[in-house]
Amino acid sequence: MNPLDYAASSRQRFLDQLFEFLRYPSISTLPEHKTDVANAADWLASHLRSIGMQTVECVPTDGHPIVYAEWLGANGPTLLFYGHYDVQPVDPLDQWQTPPFEPTLRDGKIYARGATDDKGQVWLVISAIESWLRSVGHLPCNVKLLIEGEEEIGSTHLGTFIRAYQQRLACDAVLVCDTAMFAPDIPSLVYGLRGLAYVEVHVRGPRRDLHSGSYGGAVVNPANALAAMIAALHDEHGRVAVPGFYDAVLPLSEQERQLLAALPFDEEAYRQELDVPALGGEEGYSVLERIGARPTLDVNGMWSGFTGTGAKTVLPATAHAKISMRLVPEQQPDQIAQQVARFLEQCAPAGVRVQVQTLHGAEPVLVDRTSPPMMAAARALEQSFGRAPVYQREGGSIPVVTTFVREFGVPVVLMGFGLHTDGAHSPNEHFHLANFHRGTDAVIYFFEELARGASFSPC
Ligand code: BES
Ligand code: MN
Ligand code: MN
Repeated sequence: MNPLDYAASSRQRFLDQLFEFLRYPSISTLPEHKTDVANAADWLASHLRSIGMQTVECVPTDGHPIVYAEWLGANGPTLLFYGHYDVQPVDPLDQWQTPPFEPTLRDGKIYARGATDDKGQVWLVISAIESWLRSVGHLPCNVKLLIEGEEEIGSTHLGTFIRAYQQRLACDAVLVCDTAMFAPDIPSLVYGLRGLAYVEVHVRGPRRDLHSGSYGGAVVNPANALAAMIAALHDEHGRVAVPGFYDAVLPLSEQERQLLAALPFDEEAYRQELDVPALGGEEGYSVLERIGARPTLDVNGMWSGFTGTGAKTVLPATAHAKISMRLVPEQQPDQIAQQVARFLEQCAPAGVRVQVQTLHGAEPVLVDRTSPPMMAAARALEQSFGRAPVYQREGGSIPVVTTFVREFGVPVVLMGFGLHTDGAHSPNEHFHLANFHRGTDAVIYFFEELARGASFSPC
């Protein structure tokens, strides 16, 4: 039997096993789920042993464990696959049609937290490996798997692991399946990811909440102050007003603008799907440019004062916001966080104290679109989807990718099978069954194409 037939005849079992994986509430950011995260890692490791991976380790870290596995029986190149088994929190829970950790198949989609980001995509790679090992008995290339449990919280302890395992992680190429396709039938290779700088702002006023009648007018209200500070972060052209913010940004070349403009993107359909009266953003750039190639600043959450039902006349003592910046090459997360912090401190009115705390960050990255592994991926996608992939830049971040590019110095392939409408990080996250199957086949092909090497010239 060949691996494709093996995969085709194992579909139901692959799905059942993915459902088992999805049942672990491996929410990395919530301390109360620490054991669930560890159990998901143990379960994953034992599954990898059962499909014939030669070495499997569940490596403890100061945070959540890392699952590392190897199959090195091929006389060919070595591929390192990176993915994550941790997931985002599920709130608002009442908006889920079925519970987030009770995976359900509905209308050809797998509904569960982690279905598309990233357990479902990790699963199709593992299924592709099993398909090779259990049908022909070997893989065309060596594979190493690095599946972490802290991607959604900034890959805090991955750096230490990578340094400790440096030699064992040696490879010729890296594969990451944690991005989206351009559209339902259009496979994509992603060549850029944005970076991230995340800060939390605390504005403190009087020592306690006050009667807004007795004191209002005499005391600076921290909520008013924070609102004004946040408003000052953008100018009237949708640009970030923080001095120096754009200094390191690599401008888009005319050629890249043309390539992005040629993608079959429908702004009006995009607007309608989001149900917004108009799209917004930086003047002078298209939606795809704004998402992939321009930096942004967004409030992720803000809280202050009374938010219950009805009215309470109160002047709150404090106000808080979480603000993140998406970055593009060559912006540096630390530097950007500092610039934003300084700006917020400077534009705070007298009468409040401001403290800005930096949370995690990620560096932006661009990968070589013409590397032999990228070309192998293009051929694999073409065989599985029946059409050539498009090349796109993504707005999201995967912190470790820059380490692979810069420190490992090997080509990275970002070949994902999600869709932006899959609801990653949102209620009712799902993964299209069709993409799960086509993705499995694409990875089956990819192993072979990678081993076959660069016998392909890009168009
Ligand atoms: N899979 C996403 C990254 C992603 C998002 C790629 C959208 C392509 C399109 C990943 O799991 C993720 O959510 N990353 C975080 C990183 C952060 C927590 C450091 C992100 O982008 O917010
Ligand atoms: Mn992900
Ligand atoms: Mn994510």
